Amino acid sequence: MVHDEKNNRDQTLVHLDIRLIKPGAQYAYDLMDEYGNVILEAYREFTASLQKHLLSENVRYLYYNPALKRTKDAKQVAIDHVVSQKLQGEVIENAKEIFDFLRENYKSSPSQLLTKSKIDASRKLINRVLEEISDRKDEIFNPLMKLKSLDEYDYLHSTNVSILGALLAYKLEFSKEVQMAMGMGGLFHDIGKTSVAKDILTKAKLSDEEFDIVKGHPHVGYKIIENNPYMNELEKQIVILHHERTDSNGYPFGFDLDHIQQKLPREVRLMSICDVYSALVSERPYGKVYSSAEALRLMLNMIYAPFKAIHHFLPPDFRDFIRALGLSLNEGSFFLKPGDLVRLENGEIAIVEEMNRLYPLNPRVRLITDKDKQPLKRQVQVDLLKDYRTYIANVLERNP
Ligand SMILES: [Fe+2]
Ligand SMILES: [Fe+2]
Repeated sequence: MVHDEKNNRDQTLVHLDIRLIKPGAQYAYDLMDEYGNVILEAYREFTASLQKHLLSENVRYLYYNPALKRTKDAKQVAIDHVVSQKLQGEVIENAKEIFDFLRENYKSSPSQLLTKSKIDASRKLINRVLEEISDRKDEIFNPLMKLKSLDEYDYLHSTNVSILGALLAYKLEFSKEVQMAMGMGGLFHDIGKTSVAKDILTKAKLSDEEFDIVKGHPHVGYKIIENNPYMNELEKQIVILHHERTDSNGYPFGFDLDHIQQKLPREVRLMSICDVYSALVSERPYGKVYSSAEALRLMLNMIYAPFKAIHHFLPPDFRDFIRALGLSLNEGSFFLKPGDLVRLENGEIAIVEEMNRLYPLNPRVRLITDKDKQPLKRQVQVDLLKDYRTYIANVLERNP
């Protein structure tokens, strides 16, 4: 796995020796550390103090992706939508039609419902999405749209995942066929939910029984398309495998880390990341809406690391996702040092005790207050590598 990751990086990224960068230099690329975290955004000045800081942290190289050149004012023209409003509207309308139709007719004979003309119409739309993406390749996207009501969740979420998947495939320079498959897979990944009663889907708290029903959706979705000659293998795999997780707590199969690393196509694993990201930053029946940076941070804490009990994704996949989409986890908050006073996402205040070299966002901290800012009577240490439920939300005070 580690080797894989290295190769992957060496193929696509160019490295810069920090000692050789002249202070004052600006690059047309976001500069990242070896973990894919953006250290310096494009066209920002590389300062002497940043250089000194990085070297003092034993960071020798920064990396950039030559495929992700920024235009100078890209940030200003950042747009809310990956594709035009008009096309987006059409994709949503198409998704709604498919979902409504399946929901109404599910009981008849599910495997006959997705006719050639329905699949073709979806493919045509994804094609147009890909065309628009390639026409606007220098722009920075915020690919997510907000919901107006929870009733819209399924088809808006599917539209989001579809466009995000297509964009990711395009940015990673996958073949045209795979770009299409990730767009189509995203659109259809949750069709199995059309067999689940709406009141269950919009409920905040589910009973075990209800949760089991929801968990059936990848399998039910797969049954709908399994023998459909107009969809390909990768598209079908996205439908059935998008909830597998590296800690074996996924479903329907609960595959383990090895299996996921070796047997699951990378494209499928990347689609799971698109799915989770898209869900976290949207309004959902359950859970809060996260900002893009919060969602990335939370997901960064869900990557696999040795000795960690709960983990969902492979680190190289998640880094590809961040790099390819040019998402930035923002402003130097990575530069933690022992002694820094930090606020955890759940409201607790803590002091950084020990950094983790491999996972710079997951140091060991000592809690000093609880969520309500009440001082703690005894010392509590938390290893943020092992506990992914919380993460450092911001740095309150730097250790001078
Ligand atoms: Fe799903
Ligand atoms: Fe989903």
